Formats: sequence, C-alpha cells, structure tokens
Amino acid sequence: MNIPLKRISYISLLVLLLLTGSILFLRNKNYSFKNGKNENALVNDTVPLTKYWESPIPHQKVPKGLSSLSAKSCGACHQEIYNEWKESTHAIAYQDLQFQAELNKDHILTCLNCHTPLQNQLKYIITGFVNGDYKTPVKKKNPNFDKALQAESITCASCHVRDGKVIGAIGYPNTPHLTQKNPEFLKESLCISCHNVVDQVSPVLVCSFETGDEWKNNWASKEGKNCISCHMETKHRPLMPGFPERKGHFHAFPGSGIPKLFNRKTHRLESLNFIESTIPKTVKVNESLNYFITLQNENAGHSVPTGDPERFIFTTFTLLDNKGQVVVQEKHRIGEKWKWYPNAEKLEDNNLKPKEKRTYSFTNEIKNKGKYVLKVEVTKHRMNEENAKFNQILGKYPLSITVFEKKYTIEVL
Ligand code: HEC
Ligand code: HEC
Ligand code: HEC
Ligand code: HEC
Ligand code: HEC
Repeated sequence: MNIPLKRISYISLLVLLLLTGSILFLRNKNYSFKNGKNENALVNDTVPLTKYWESPIPHQKVPKGLSSLSAKSCGACHQEIYNEWKESTHAIAYQDLQFQAELNKDHILTCLNCHTPLQNQLKYIITGFVNGDYKTPVKKKNPNFDKALQAESITCASCHVRDGKVIGAIGYPNTPHLTQKNPEFLKESLCISCHNVVDQVSPVLVCSFETGDEWKNNWASKEGKNCISCHMETKHRPLMPGFPERKGHFHAFPGSGIPKLFNRKTHRLESLNFIESTIPKTVKVNESLNYFITLQNENAGHSVPTGDPERFIFTTFTLLDNKGQVVVQEKHRIGEKWKWYPNAEKLEDNNLKPKEKRTYSFTNEIKNKGKYVLKVEVTKHRMNEENAKFNQILGKYPLSITVFEKKYTIEVL
C-alpha cells in the first residue's frame, strides 16, 4: 500500500518530536539525579489530571438576575424545593461523618470533587499529583474559595448552574434569572457522572460505585424509568409562591432510608418485596418446623444494595424459647465482600440484581415441648460495626434500619 507523502512527513515530524521530547526528558532526569536532590525529580514526575473525576466543575459565576449561588438564596423563591433538598443526603455529603473521617485520615483532596463538586467550594486548586500519588497533589490556594458554599455540599448550583446561566429542562419565559433550556443536561447522565466510578485511589482504597452500569439494560431502563423518574417523583406545584402550577420534581433524593444522623429526617424508597411461606401454629417434638421468606428486588432499577461496597442486608431467623432465650439464630447476608490489605480486591458480590429473588429457609426440629417464638427480621446496613469503629464513628452514625419484622408463636406438643 502506498502511504501518501503528506502522511510520511507528518510521521517523521512526530518521530522527531518524540525523540527530542525524550532526550529533553532524559536530560532533566539526569540533571536531578546528579544533584542528588529530589526537587527536580518531583517536578518531572508530576502526573497531570487525566480522569474526569480528578477535576471539579470549573469556577461558576453568579447568573445574571441573582445575587448569590447559594442554595439558601435560591430557596428565597424556590421554598419547597429548598426545604426538600435540605433533607437530602446530597446537602450533607461534605459533613458526612464517614466522609470526614476518611478525608482526615487519607487527605485525598480529589475526593471533594463529587462531595463539593464546584471549584468555588474548594480551598485548593489541584493541577497534578507528585509521582501520581493522590496523597501528594500539586496544589495552590483557590482565591475564589467560598466557605459557605462548601458547607452546602451538592448544592443547587452543582446541578443547575453552568456558564453563568441557570439550567432548566423547560425554558420558562418569566424567570428572574438568566436561564438556559437544556433537558439533555438534566438527565440521568448527570446522576451517573457521580454515581458510577470504579477506580483505584491507593492500594487499599477504591471507589466502586456502579449504579449507572447496573441500571443500563434492565427492565427499568427498557420501560423508560431512570434515576430521575424513581428518585425525583413528579410534583405539581408552583415553582415559587404566586406563580402558576407547573410539573416539578421532589428534591429530597430518597435512598435506602438509613439515616445519616440520629434524629435526621430521612426519606426512603423500598426496593424489597417480601414473600413468606405459611408457618404452622403447632408442631410435634422432633418434627421439623419449616418456614421460608423470599426477598425480591422489585422496585429498584439497579442492584440492591447499590453504591458503596460496605452496604449489606441481613435476613435473620431467631428461635426463642418461652423464657426469651435464643435457641438458635441464623443470619444470611446480601452484599459485597472485599479484602482491603495489602490490596483492595472484590471477593464476592451477591447483591440482588433488578427483579432478582432470593429465598432463605429456616428448618428446626425442636426437642422439647413448650411455646416458642420464631422472629424473622430483614435489616439494611450502611456498614458493619468494625468499620464504624475503624472510622471512630461508632455510636454517632446510624448503622442500620429494620425493614421487615415478624414474630410467630409456635406450640410444640
Ligand atoms: C427571585 C426569585 C428566584 C430566585 C432567587 C431563583 N429563582 Fe429559579 N425561578 C424563579 C421563577 C419565578 C422561575 C419560573 C417560574 C415559572 O415560570 O413557573 C424559576 C425557574 C427556575 C428553574 C426552571 C427553569 C426552566 O425553565 O426549566 C430552575 C431550574 C431554577 N429556577 C433554578 C434556580 C436556582 C438553582 C436558583 C439559585 C441559584 C434559583 N432558581 C433562584 C425564581 C427564582
Ligand atoms: C456531584 C455529584 C453527584 C451528582 C451529580 C448526583 N449525586 Fe447523588 N450522591 C452523591 C454523593 C456524594 C452522595 C452521598 C452523600 C453521602 O452519603 O454523604 C449521593 C447520594 C445519593 C443518594 C442516596 C441517598 C441516601 O440517603 O442514601 C441518592 C438516592 C442519590 N444520590 C441520587 C441521585 C440522583 C437521582 C441524581 C441525579 C438527579 C444524583 N444523585 C446526582 C453525589 C452526586
Ligand atoms: C443532584 C442534582 C440536583 C440538585 C442538587 C438540585 N436539582 Fe433541581 N433539578 C434537578 C433535576 C434532574 C431536575 C428535573 C429536570 C427535568 O424536568 O427533567 C430539577 C428541576 C428543578 C426545577 C424545575 C422544577 C422541577 O421541580 O422540575 C427547579 C426550579 C429546581 N430544580 C431548583 C432547584 C433548587 C432551588 C435546588 C437547590 C435547593 C436544586 N434544584 C437542587 C437536579 C437537581
Ligand atoms: C425503577 C426505579 C429506580 C431507578 C430507575 C433507579 N433507582 Fe435508585 N433506588 C431505587 C430504590 C427503590 C432504592 C432503594 C433501595 C433499597 O431498598 O435500599 C434505590 C436506592 C438508590 C440509592 C441508595 C443507596 C443507599 O443505600 O442509600 C442510590 C444512590 C440510587 N438508588 C441511585 C440511583 C441512580 C444514580 C440511578 C440512575 C442510574 C437510579 N438510582 C435509578 C429505585 C430506582
Ligand atoms: C466520582 C464521584 C465521587 C468521588 C470522586 C468520591 N465519591 Fe464518595 N460518594 C460518591 C457517591 C455517588 C456516593 C453515594 C453512593 C451511594 O449512596 O450509593 C458517595 C458516598 C461516599 C460516602 C458515604 C458512604 C455511605 O455508606 O453512605 C463516603 C464516606 C465517601 N463517599 C467517601 C469518599 C472518599 C474518601 C473519596 C475519595 C477517596 C470519595 N468519596 C470520592 C461519589 C464520589
């Protein structure tokens, strides 16, 4: 095959550039080597930002017609939406006790890019990593750092302000602020930009959220249900007092419903549907008592649990005698299993896929006559006690909620 002349000259130019580049690179390396100091080597070994989550959303100006970017200022008009958002986990993604514990331990500033996603919310601007290590970023002070906005975590402007304009899906004519209609932007891809990332941050630290991938190609996406249709229920109401009723969206972003703080109002969606067998009221000594419960991921358009790999679901059977003493207890776990040392690695994943069913049975041959109670419980957990202890948040951070609880009395004759 003939390679056109023009291409050849491009190729030779490229080869030449690469050669000079590598010579310069080698020379610099030698130079720092000779000096016996690391400073130059450090500069040379700086790895620039490459992955999208290593950078925040660029600095945003206040859109024309408004005096501030803060959620509070949006809330002066959009009161109901503001009150809902304040109850969302998004609104405290920075203050989150586990997040703060991890941030203070590892000092990985890039973590902030999803928890306080605007550059306006960041104390430092990061341009690269020394030796490619996230713990040693090349940073400078951000002259436009807004501490009050930082405290708002994933604030209205994270999803609604770009290039000095408020982004909306409709394009209403009478907004007091400069508005741009962009329904394509306010789609599930916005959610997925934060809710789907798999990356190794350090040998023992990984980001592993795959909610976006889990959602693709299942019944929900095929039926046109996306993150927004399930997590931002439709509400018909004026967008501010005195305005006409519009089709709007609930902004509290309900999730599994495990509260982030004791006594914090928490909104919840329930994915699970429970199907039980019948259970006899009486059995004979040494006759087997049988019961089963099926958990189905009926309502979530992704696995359950999803997101953070520390989450799990326990189905617990407890057989108690008439004094309340435990005769036998069985626990079944749904979730991921990881080993963290010396390298993070996923060992197991039996999360319930969309619409998947899992059945757990209880069988026991009771040896003595009397009254017994079979307690059946399903609990959703944010993390186990060991990890809570490790993060020094045990007792401060609610770890689980009960989503199913029944007690059956059985008489053994
Ligand atoms: C002074 C009152 C006021 C403030 C402050 C305000 N808005 Fe609005 N906003 C409105 C009004 C009025 C509408 C249009 C209502 C209508 O026509 O139903 C609107 C519409 C919107 C829409 C829908 C746009 C569309 O066309 O789809 C979005 C999104 C929005 N505002 C976000 C924000 C955000 C984010 C902030 C804060 C950064 C904010 N607003 C601050 C009054 C305000
Ligand atoms: C800028 C990044 C970002 C974007 C964009 C984003 N999220 Fe989140 N979301 C987060 C973070 C971070 C958390 C966890 C906060 C925490 O646990 O402290 C979270 C938590 C959640 C939760 C869990 C709530 C709970 O109580 O457990 C749900 C549900 C959720 N987001 C849905 C959505 C949906 C739907 C969208 C799109 C409309 C979206 N998110 C867009 C970063 C984002
Ligand atoms: C995690 C992203 C996210 C955050 C944070 C967020 N919104 Fe929204 N907002 C959306 C999405 C998505 C829509 C729906 C777009 C559509 O119509 O499909 C929306 C819609 C709106 C609308 C149009 C009416 C409606 O309800 O559909 C207004 C007004 C609005 N948001 C204001 C706010 C205000 C004010 C805040 C902060 C208090 C805020 N939003 C926080 C994602 C977000
Ligand atoms: C068909 C409805 C549906 C769709 C589509 C859907 N979700 Fe969910 N989502 C749920 C339900 C129900 C739960 C509650 C799960 C449970 O029982 O704990 C949930 C839970 C979550 C959680 C909470 C995790 C936790 O443990 O608190 C996050 C985060 C989340 N969804 C994000 C998303 C994102 C991002 C998308 C889009 C890619 C999405 N969801 C699409 C229904 C849906
Ligand atoms: C690409 C965006 C992104 C980055 C970068 C990111 N997070 Fe998150 N983080 C999320 C999302 C999304 C959630 C919510 C997941 C869910 O609820 O399913 C979350 C939740 C969390 C939670 C709460 C877990 C829970 O069970 O509620 C902690 C703690 C956390 N992140 C720590 C970190 C740390 C530490 C880093 C840096 C190593 C980091 N995050 C970087 C997106 C991100």
